[in-house]
Amino acid sequence: MPAKIVIGMQWGDEGKGKIIDYLADKAQIVARYQGGDNAGHTVVVGDKYFRFHLMPSGVIRGKKAILGNGMVINPNTLVEELRRLDENGIEPDMLVSKKAQVIMPYHRKLDSLREKEKGEKMIGTTKKGIGPAYEDKARRIGLRMADLLDEAVLSEKIEQQAKVKNIELSNYEEEPIDIDEVIEEYTFYAGQLAKYIGDASLEINNALDQGKNVLIEGAQGTHLDIDHGTYPFVTSSNTIAGGACTGLGIGPTRIKEVVGVVKAYTTRVGEGAFPTELNGKLLEELREQGGEYGTTTGRPRRCGWFDSMLVRYSKMLNNTDWIALTKIDVLTGLDPLKICVEYKHVMTEEHTKIFPNTLEELYNYEPVYEEVEGWTEDEWNPKKLTKKPKAYVKKLEKLCGIPIKIVSTGPKRKETLILKE
Ligand code: GDP
Ligand code: IMO
Ligand code: MG
Repeated sequence: MPAKIVIGMQWGDEGKGKIIDYLADKAQIVARYQGGDNAGHTVVVGDKYFRFHLMPSGVIRGKKAILGNGMVINPNTLVEELRRLDENGIEPDMLVSKKAQVIMPYHRKLDSLREKEKGEKMIGTTKKGIGPAYEDKARRIGLRMADLLDEAVLSEKIEQQAKVKNIELSNYEEEPIDIDEVIEEYTFYAGQLAKYIGDASLEINNALDQGKNVLIEGAQGTHLDIDHGTYPFVTSSNTIAGGACTGLGIGPTRIKEVVGVVKAYTTRVGEGAFPTELNGKLLEELREQGGEYGTTTGRPRRCGWFDSMLVRYSKMLNNTDWIALTKIDVLTGLDPLKICVEYKHVMTEEHTKIFPNTLEELYNYEPVYEEVEGWTEDEWNPKKLTKKPKAYVKKLEKLCGIPIKIVSTGPKRKETLILKE
Protein backbone atom coordinates (compact mmCIF):
# COMPACT_ATOMS: atom_id res chain seq x y z
CA MET A 1 0.00 0.00 0.00
CA PRO A 2 1.22 3.51 -0.72
CA ALA A 3 1.78 6.17 1.89
CA LYS A 4 -0.73 8.81 2.92
CA ILE A 5 0.40 12.20 4.22
CA VAL A 6 -1.54 14.51 6.49
CA ILE A 7 -0.37 18.12 6.50
CA GLY A 8 -1.58 21.42 7.94
CA MET A 9 -2.66 23.87 5.26
CA GLN A 10 -2.52 27.10 7.27
CA TRP A 11 -0.13 28.24 10.02
CA GLY A 12 -0.23 25.12 12.20
CA ASP A 13 -2.57 23.93 14.97
CA GLU A 14 -5.24 23.00 12.45
CA GLY A 15 -6.16 19.89 14.46
CA LYS A 16 -3.75 17.48 12.75
CA GLY A 17 -3.42 15.37 15.92
CA LYS A 18 -7.13 14.66 16.05
CA ILE A 19 -7.36 13.78 12.35
CA ILE A 20 -4.22 11.58 12.46
CA ASP A 21 -5.65 9.71 15.42
CA TYR A 22 -8.83 9.11 13.42
CA LEU A 23 -7.03 7.98 10.26
CA ALA A 24 -4.45 5.90 12.15
CA ASP A 25 -7.10 3.31 12.85
CA LYS A 26 -6.47 1.88 9.37
CA ALA A 27 -2.66 2.30 9.39
CA GLN A 28 0.08 -0.04 10.54
CA ILE A 29 2.77 2.64 10.75
CA VAL A 30 2.62 6.30 11.70
CA ALA A 31 5.61 8.53 10.98
CA ARG A 32 6.86 12.08 11.43
CA TYR A 33 9.29 13.60 8.95
CA GLN A 34 10.24 17.08 10.13
CA GLY A 35 10.23 19.53 13.00
CA GLY A 36 10.71 18.73 16.63
CA ASP A 37 9.07 19.54 19.93
CA ASN A 38 7.92 22.90 18.60
CA ALA A 39 4.89 20.86 17.49
CA GLY A 40 2.01 20.22 19.85
CA HIS A 41 -0.59 17.74 18.64
CA THR A 42 -3.61 17.03 20.79
CA VAL A 43 -5.54 13.78 20.83
CA VAL A 44 -8.57 13.37 23.05
CA VAL A 45 -9.56 9.84 23.99
CA GLY A 46 -12.55 9.68 26.32
CA ASP A 47 -11.76 12.14 29.08
CA LYS A 48 -7.99 11.92 28.55
CA TYR A 49 -5.96 14.57 26.74
CA PHE A 50 -2.70 13.48 25.11
CA ARG A 51 -0.36 16.18 23.81
CA PHE A 52 2.38 14.93 21.54
CA HIS A 53 5.41 17.00 20.66
CA LEU A 54 7.60 14.37 19.02
CA MET A 55 5.75 11.11 18.75
CA PRO A 56 3.31 10.66 15.90
CA SER A 57 -0.23 10.94 17.24
CA GLY A 58 -1.20 7.48 15.92
CA VAL A 59 0.92 5.89 18.64
CA ILE A 60 -2.12 5.90 20.92
CA ARG A 61 -3.78 3.34 18.69
CA GLY A 62 -0.81 1.03 19.22
CA LYS A 63 0.66 1.63 15.77
CA LYS A 64 4.37 1.43 15.05
CA ALA A 65 5.77 4.95 15.42
CA ILE A 66 8.64 6.20 13.27
CA LEU A 67 10.55 9.42 13.90
CA GLY A 68 12.26 10.26 10.63
CA ASN A 69 15.70 11.57 9.75
CA GLY A 70 14.27 15.00 8.91
CA MET A 71 13.38 15.64 12.54
CA VAL A 72 15.29 17.50 15.24
CA ILE A 73 14.88 15.61 18.49
CA ASN A 74 15.04 16.89 22.04
CA PRO A 75 15.79 13.62 23.87
CA ASN A 76 14.46 14.99 27.12
CA THR A 77 11.03 15.56 25.55
CA LEU A 78 11.07 12.08 24.05
CA VAL A 79 11.93 10.45 27.38
CA GLU A 80 9.12 12.46 28.99
CA GLU A 81 6.62 11.37 26.30
CA LEU A 82 7.60 7.74 26.84
CA ARG A 83 7.09 8.18 30.57
CA ARG A 84 3.64 9.71 30.13
CA LEU A 85 2.57 6.94 27.77
CA ASP A 86 3.86 4.39 30.25
CA GLU A 87 1.69 5.99 32.96
CA ASN A 88 -1.26 5.35 30.68
CA GLY A 89 -0.29 1.75 30.08
CA ILE A 90 0.97 2.35 26.55
CA GLU A 91 4.34 0.93 25.55
CA PRO A 92 5.01 2.30 22.09
CA ASP A 93 6.62 0.32 19.32
CA MET A 94 8.91 3.18 18.31
CA LEU A 95 11.83 3.57 15.94
CA VAL A 96 13.88 6.76 15.82
CA SER A 97 16.08 7.35 12.79
CA LYS A 98 19.82 7.15 13.44
CA LYS A 99 20.08 10.12 11.12
CA ALA A 100 17.71 12.46 13.00
CA GLN A 101 19.41 15.50 14.50
CA VAL A 102 19.68 16.02 18.26
CA ILE A 103 18.68 19.25 19.98
CA MET A 104 21.14 20.34 22.65
CA PRO A 105 20.58 22.72 25.60
CA TYR A 106 22.67 25.41 23.92
CA HIS A 107 20.37 25.31 20.86
CA ARG A 108 17.50 26.33 23.09
CA LYS A 109 19.64 28.96 24.78
CA LEU A 110 20.70 30.45 21.43
CA ASP A 111 17.10 30.40 20.18
CA SER A 112 16.08 32.56 23.17
CA LEU A 113 19.10 34.86 22.93
CA ARG A 114 18.52 35.52 19.23
CA GLU A 115 14.86 36.27 19.78
CA LYS A 116 15.78 38.73 22.52
CA GLU A 117 18.37 40.33 20.27
CA LYS A 118 15.82 40.80 17.48
CA GLY A 119 13.55 42.75 19.81
CA GLU A 120 10.49 43.95 17.90
CA LYS A 121 11.58 41.93 14.87
CA MET A 122 11.45 38.64 16.76
CA ILE A 123 10.00 35.61 14.97
CA GLY A 124 8.08 34.49 18.03
CA THR A 125 9.66 31.03 18.00
CA THR A 126 8.77 28.34 20.49
CA LYS A 127 12.32 28.69 21.92
CA LYS A 128 12.80 24.95 21.61
CA GLY A 129 16.08 25.36 19.72
CA ILE A 130 14.62 24.29 16.39
CA GLY A 131 16.33 26.93 14.22
CA PRO A 132 19.79 26.56 15.82
CA ALA A 133 19.62 22.75 15.56
CA TYR A 134 18.74 22.83 11.85
CA GLU A 135 21.52 25.39 11.33
CA ASP A 136 24.04 22.98 12.81
CA LYS A 137 22.70 20.22 10.57
CA ALA A 138 23.30 22.38 7.49
CA ARG A 139 26.67 23.44 8.90
CA ARG A 140 27.54 19.75 9.27
CA ILE A 141 28.39 19.92 12.95
CA GLY A 142 25.12 18.46 14.21
CA LEU A 143 24.83 15.48 16.53
CA ARG A 144 22.65 12.68 15.23
CA MET A 145 20.70 10.07 17.17
CA ALA A 146 23.25 7.41 16.12
CA ASP A 147 25.90 9.33 18.09
CA LEU A 148 24.02 8.43 21.27
CA LEU A 149 24.88 4.78 20.64
CA ASP A 150 28.60 5.12 21.30
CA GLU A 151 29.86 6.80 24.44
CA ALA A 152 33.23 7.84 23.00
CA VAL A 153 31.66 9.25 19.82
CA LEU A 154 29.02 11.08 21.85
CA SER A 155 31.62 12.79 24.06
CA GLU A 156 33.82 13.71 21.12
CA LYS A 157 30.96 15.18 19.08
CA ILE A 158 29.58 17.16 21.99
CA GLU A 159 33.03 18.60 22.62
CA GLN A 160 33.46 19.57 18.96
CA GLN A 161 30.03 21.17 18.70
CA ALA A 162 30.31 22.94 22.05
CA LYS A 163 33.57 24.57 20.95
CA VAL A 164 31.79 26.24 18.04
CA LYS A 165 28.77 27.15 20.13
CA ASN A 166 30.93 28.72 22.82
CA ILE A 167 32.13 31.30 20.30
CA GLU A 168 28.51 32.21 19.54
CA LEU A 169 27.56 32.29 23.21
CA SER A 170 30.49 34.56 24.00
CA ASN A 171 29.05 37.09 21.53
CA TYR A 172 26.12 37.36 23.93
CA GLU A 173 28.49 37.51 26.92
CA GLU A 174 27.17 34.14 28.11
CA GLU A 175 29.10 31.64 30.24
CA PRO A 176 30.77 28.83 28.27
CA ILE A 177 29.04 25.46 28.10
CA ASP A 178 29.76 23.01 30.92
CA ILE A 179 30.74 20.19 28.57
CA ASP A 180 30.97 17.47 31.25
CA GLU A 181 27.47 18.29 32.44
CA VAL A 182 26.08 18.03 28.89
CA ILE A 183 27.89 14.75 28.30
CA GLU A 184 26.47 13.35 31.52
CA GLU A 185 22.93 14.47 30.64
CA TYR A 186 23.07 13.04 27.12
CA THR A 187 24.64 9.78 28.31
CA PHE A 188 21.55 9.36 30.47
CA TYR A 189 19.26 9.93 27.46
CA ALA A 190 21.35 7.47 25.46
CA GLY A 191 20.64 4.82 28.06
CA GLN A 192 16.92 5.50 27.88
CA LEU A 193 16.63 5.72 24.11
CA ALA A 194 19.27 3.40 22.60
CA LYS A 195 16.85 0.53 22.04
CA TYR A 196 14.64 2.72 19.87
CA ILE A 197 17.36 4.03 17.52
CA GLY A 198 17.73 2.36 14.11
CA ASP A 199 17.36 2.50 10.34
CA ALA A 200 13.99 4.21 9.92
CA SER A 201 14.20 4.51 6.13
CA LEU A 202 14.77 0.79 5.74
CA GLU A 203 11.87 0.00 8.06
CA ILE A 204 9.41 2.29 6.29
CA ASN A 205 10.40 1.18 2.79
CA ASN A 206 10.15 -2.49 3.80
CA ALA A 207 6.72 -1.82 5.24
CA LEU A 208 5.61 -0.16 2.00
CA ASP A 209 6.98 -3.09 -0.02
CA GLN A 210 4.96 -5.44 2.15
CA GLY A 211 1.78 -3.52 1.39
CA LYS A 212 1.41 -1.97 4.83
CA ASN A 213 -0.51 1.27 5.34
CA VAL A 214 1.83 4.09 6.26
CA LEU A 215 0.38 7.31 7.62
CA ILE A 216 2.71 10.30 7.65
CA GLU A 217 2.07 13.19 10.03
CA GLY A 218 3.18 16.69 9.13
CA ALA A 219 3.95 19.16 11.88
CA GLN A 220 3.41 22.94 11.74
CA GLY A 221 1.63 24.14 8.61
CA THR A 222 2.28 24.90 4.95
CA HIS A 223 2.71 28.65 5.48
CA LEU A 224 5.39 27.98 8.12
CA ASP A 225 7.51 26.07 5.57
CA ILE A 226 11.11 27.35 5.44
CA ASP A 227 10.98 27.79 1.65
CA HIS A 228 7.31 28.42 0.91
CA GLY A 229 6.02 30.08 4.06
CA THR A 230 5.88 33.73 5.07
CA TYR A 231 9.69 33.93 5.37
CA PRO A 232 11.35 34.87 7.69
CA PHE A 233 8.39 34.24 10.02
CA VAL A 234 8.56 30.51 9.47
CA THR A 235 9.98 27.40 11.11
CA SER A 236 13.26 25.86 9.91
CA SER A 237 12.01 22.75 8.10
CA ASN A 238 10.03 21.81 4.99
CA THR A 239 6.56 21.30 6.35
CA ILE A 240 4.90 20.70 2.98
CA ALA A 241 4.08 17.20 1.74
CA GLY A 242 7.23 17.07 -0.39
CA GLY A 243 9.32 17.22 2.80
CA ALA A 244 8.18 13.70 3.65
CA CYS A 245 10.37 12.20 0.92
CA THR A 246 13.62 13.68 2.23
CA GLY A 247 12.52 13.54 5.87
CA LEU A 248 11.91 9.80 5.78
CA GLY A 249 13.96 8.59 2.83
CA ILE A 250 11.12 7.44 0.59
CA GLY A 251 10.74 8.02 -3.14
CA PRO A 252 8.08 10.51 -4.32
CA THR A 253 6.03 7.84 -6.08
CA ARG A 254 5.42 6.13 -2.74
CA ILE A 255 3.01 8.90 -1.80
CA LYS A 256 -0.43 8.45 -3.20
CA GLU A 257 -2.65 10.62 -1.08
CA VAL A 258 -2.28 14.01 0.55
CA VAL A 259 -4.82 15.00 3.18
CA GLY A 260 -4.97 18.66 4.17
CA VAL A 261 -6.15 19.62 7.63
CA VAL A 262 -7.84 23.01 7.62
CA LYS A 263 -9.37 24.96 10.48
CA ALA A 264 -12.75 26.56 9.76
CA TYR A 265 -11.12 29.93 10.57
CA THR A 266 -7.47 30.96 10.78
CA THR A 267 -4.99 31.10 13.65
CA ARG A 268 -1.33 31.86 14.03
CA VAL A 269 1.09 31.78 16.99
CA GLY A 270 4.18 33.91 16.74
CA GLU A 271 4.82 36.96 14.62
CA GLY A 272 4.40 37.59 10.90
CA ALA A 273 1.73 38.66 8.42
CA PHE A 274 -1.85 37.60 9.00
CA PRO A 275 -4.19 39.38 6.54
CA THR A 276 -7.51 38.23 8.06
CA GLU A 277 -6.47 38.77 11.69
CA LEU A 278 -9.16 39.97 14.09
CA ASN A 279 -8.87 42.30 17.03
CA GLY A 280 -11.08 43.32 19.94
CA LYS A 281 -14.26 41.53 20.93
CA LEU A 282 -14.45 39.18 17.96
CA LEU A 283 -10.87 38.02 18.54
CA GLU A 284 -11.62 37.36 22.21
CA GLU A 285 -14.78 35.43 21.35
CA LEU A 286 -13.09 33.23 18.79
CA ARG A 287 -10.08 32.61 21.04
CA GLU A 288 -12.18 31.65 24.03
CA GLN A 289 -14.66 29.51 22.09
CA GLY A 290 -11.86 27.75 20.24
CA GLY A 291 -9.55 27.41 23.26
CA GLU A 292 -6.90 29.01 21.09
CA TYR A 293 -3.87 28.81 23.34
CA GLY A 294 -0.66 27.16 22.15
CA THR A 295 -0.30 23.45 22.94
CA THR A 296 3.48 23.80 23.27
CA THR A 297 3.98 27.27 24.75
CA GLY A 298 0.54 28.21 26.12
CA ARG A 299 0.71 31.51 24.20
CA PRO A 300 -2.64 32.98 23.12
CA ARG A 301 -3.08 32.32 19.41
CA ARG A 302 -3.88 35.14 17.02
CA CYS A 303 -7.25 34.44 15.37
CA GLY A 304 -8.96 35.59 12.19
CA TRP A 305 -11.49 34.79 9.49
CA PHE A 306 -11.06 31.94 7.06
CA ASP A 307 -8.59 32.86 4.32
CA SER A 308 -9.16 30.90 1.12
CA MET A 309 -6.07 32.54 -0.43
CA LEU A 310 -3.86 30.65 2.03
CA VAL A 311 -5.55 27.34 1.47
CA ARG A 312 -5.67 27.61 -2.34
CA TYR A 313 -1.93 28.25 -2.44
CA SER A 314 -1.40 25.32 -0.04
CA LYS A 315 -3.38 23.16 -2.39
CA MET A 316 -0.90 23.92 -5.14
CA LEU A 317 2.18 23.34 -2.95
CA ASN A 318 0.93 20.03 -1.58
CA ASN A 319 -1.37 18.84 -4.36
CA THR A 320 -3.91 18.15 -1.63
CA ASP A 321 -6.46 15.47 -2.53
CA TRP A 322 -9.03 16.26 0.11
CA ILE A 323 -9.61 18.29 3.23
CA ALA A 324 -10.46 17.43 6.82
CA LEU A 325 -12.13 20.59 8.12
CA THR A 326 -11.87 21.13 11.88
CA LYS A 327 -13.37 23.33 14.59
CA ILE A 328 -16.46 24.45 12.70
CA ASP A 329 -18.34 24.16 16.02
CA VAL A 330 -16.31 27.13 17.29
CA LEU A 331 -18.08 29.47 14.85
CA THR A 332 -21.50 28.77 16.43
CA GLY A 333 -23.10 32.02 17.59
CA LEU A 334 -21.00 34.33 15.42
CA ASP A 335 -23.09 36.19 12.87
CA PRO A 336 -22.33 37.21 10.20
CA LEU A 337 -19.28 35.11 9.32
CA LYS A 338 -16.71 36.44 6.91
CA ILE A 339 -14.62 34.53 4.40
CA CYS A 340 -11.68 36.03 2.54
CA VAL A 341 -12.15 35.24 -1.14
CA GLU A 342 -9.32 37.31 -2.65
CA TYR A 343 -6.87 40.14 -1.85
CA LYS A 344 -6.90 43.76 -2.99
CA HIS A 345 -3.75 45.85 -3.51
CA VAL A 346 -3.91 48.80 -1.12
CA MET A 347 -2.46 51.28 -3.64
CA THR A 348 -3.57 50.11 -7.09
CA GLU A 349 -6.81 48.44 -5.89
CA GLU A 350 -5.98 45.56 -8.22
CA HIS A 351 -7.56 42.25 -7.09
CA THR A 352 -5.69 38.97 -6.97
CA LYS A 353 -6.62 35.37 -6.26
CA ILE A 354 -3.00 34.23 -5.99
CA PHE A 355 -1.25 34.35 -2.61
CA PRO A 356 1.76 36.72 -2.87
CA ASN A 357 5.23 35.10 -2.80
CA THR A 358 6.99 37.41 -0.38
CA LEU A 359 6.14 39.17 2.85
CA GLU A 360 6.92 42.55 1.28
CA GLU A 361 4.31 41.84 -1.41
CA LEU A 362 1.83 40.45 1.08
CA TYR A 363 1.94 43.61 3.22
CA ASN A 364 0.59 45.54 0.20
CA TYR A 365 -2.65 43.59 0.14
CA GLU A 366 -5.79 43.54 2.21
CA PRO A 367 -8.46 40.86 2.30
CA VAL A 368 -11.70 41.05 0.34
CA TYR A 369 -14.50 39.35 2.24
CA GLU A 370 -17.81 37.74 1.46
CA GLU A 371 -20.31 37.52 4.27
CA VAL A 372 -22.04 34.28 5.12
CA GLU A 373 -24.95 33.77 7.48
CA GLY A 374 -23.89 32.40 10.85
CA TRP A 375 -25.86 29.88 12.92
CA THR A 376 -27.18 29.92 16.45
CA GLU A 377 -26.71 27.36 19.22
CA ASP A 378 -30.20 26.01 18.37
CA GLU A 379 -29.28 25.61 14.73
CA TRP A 380 -26.09 23.68 15.55
CA ASN A 381 -25.89 19.89 15.76
CA PRO A 382 -22.49 18.24 16.25
CA LYS A 383 -23.83 14.95 14.88
CA LYS A 384 -25.12 16.28 11.59
CA LEU A 385 -24.46 19.34 9.45
CA THR A 386 -27.58 21.46 9.52
CA LYS A 387 -28.45 23.87 6.71
CA LYS A 388 -26.26 26.87 7.60
CA PRO A 389 -23.07 25.05 8.65
CA LYS A 390 -23.48 22.91 5.54
CA ALA A 391 -23.68 26.03 3.37
CA TYR A 392 -20.47 27.30 5.03
CA VAL A 393 -18.68 24.01 4.29
CA LYS A 394 -19.90 24.05 0.67
CA LYS A 395 -18.70 27.60 0.26
CA LEU A 396 -15.21 26.72 1.55
CA GLU A 397 -15.09 23.64 -0.65
CA LYS A 398 -15.89 25.72 -3.72
CA LEU A 399 -13.43 28.51 -2.87
CA CYS A 400 -10.56 26.12 -2.13
CA GLY A 401 -11.33 23.80 -5.03
CA ILE A 402 -10.79 20.69 -2.90
CA PRO A 403 -13.39 18.19 -1.66
CA ILE A 404 -14.04 18.34 2.09
CA LYS A 405 -14.45 14.71 3.16
CA ILE A 406 -14.27 15.00 6.93
CA VAL A 407 -15.78 17.68 9.15
CA SER A 408 -14.71 17.71 12.78
CA THR A 409 -17.32 19.14 15.14
CA GLY A 410 -15.44 18.84 18.43
CA PRO A 411 -12.17 17.53 19.89
CA LYS A 412 -13.48 14.03 20.67
CA ARG A 413 -13.22 11.02 18.39
CA LYS A 414 -16.97 10.67 18.02
CA GLU A 415 -17.27 14.33 17.00
CA THR A 416 -16.18 13.47 13.47
CA LEU A 417 -18.50 13.56 10.46
CA ILE A 418 -17.61 11.65 7.34
CA LEU A 419 -19.14 13.49 4.39
CA LYS A 420 -17.58 11.40 1.66
CA GLU A 421 -15.77 8.04 1.84
P1 GDP B 1 -2.38 20.37 15.75
O1 GDP B 1 -1.08 20.99 16.17
O2 GDP B 1 -2.70 20.64 14.32
O3 GDP B 1 -2.45 18.90 16.07
O4 GDP B 1 -3.50 21.09 16.61
P2 GDP B 1 -3.45 21.40 18.19
O5 GDP B 1 -3.62 20.12 18.94
O6 GDP B 1 -2.27 22.24 18.53
O7 GDP B 1 -4.70 22.35 18.33
C1 GDP B 1 -5.97 21.93 17.99
C2 GDP B 1 -6.88 22.02 19.23
O8 GDP B 1 -8.23 21.94 18.82
C3 GDP B 1 -6.70 20.85 20.19
O9 GDP B 1 -6.93 21.32 21.49
C4 GDP B 1 -7.78 19.86 19.78
O10 GDP B 1 -8.20 19.02 20.85
C5 GDP B 1 -8.87 20.80 19.36
N1 GDP B 1 -9.77 20.31 18.29
C6 GDP B 1 -9.48 19.51 17.23
N2 GDP B 1 -10.57 19.40 16.43
C7 GDP B 1 -11.54 20.14 17.00
C8 GDP B 1 -12.88 20.47 16.63
O11 GDP B 1 -13.40 20.05 15.60
N3 GDP B 1 -13.56 21.30 17.46
C9 GDP B 1 -13.02 21.80 18.60
N4 GDP B 1 -13.77 22.62 19.34
N5 GDP B 1 -11.76 21.52 18.98
C10 GDP B 1 -11.04 20.71 18.18
P1 IMO C 1 1.95 22.26 15.25
O1 IMO C 1 2.62 21.03 14.69
C1 IMO C 1 1.84 26.60 15.24
C2 IMO C 1 5.67 28.70 14.83
C3 IMO C 1 6.17 29.50 16.01
C4 IMO C 1 6.88 30.61 15.26
C5 IMO C 1 7.51 29.89 14.08
C6 IMO C 1 8.96 29.50 14.29
O2 IMO C 1 1.43 22.08 16.63
O3 IMO C 1 0.95 22.80 14.29
P2 IMO C 1 10.12 27.59 15.74
O4 IMO C 1 10.09 27.33 17.20
O5 IMO C 1 9.61 26.46 14.91
O6 IMO C 1 11.45 28.09 15.25
O7 IMO C 1 9.10 28.83 15.53
O8 IMO C 1 6.72 28.72 13.89
N1 IMO C 1 5.36 27.27 15.13
C7 IMO C 1 4.11 26.78 15.21
N2 IMO C 1 2.92 27.39 15.14
N3 IMO C 1 1.89 25.26 15.38
C8 IMO C 1 3.09 24.63 15.42
O9 IMO C 1 3.19 23.30 15.42
C9 IMO C 1 4.27 25.39 15.39
N4 IMO C 1 5.58 25.10 15.45
C10 IMO C 1 6.24 26.26 15.27
O10 IMO C 1 5.12 29.97 16.81
O11 IMO C 1 5.94 31.53 14.74
MG1 MG D 1 -0.35 22.31 17.61
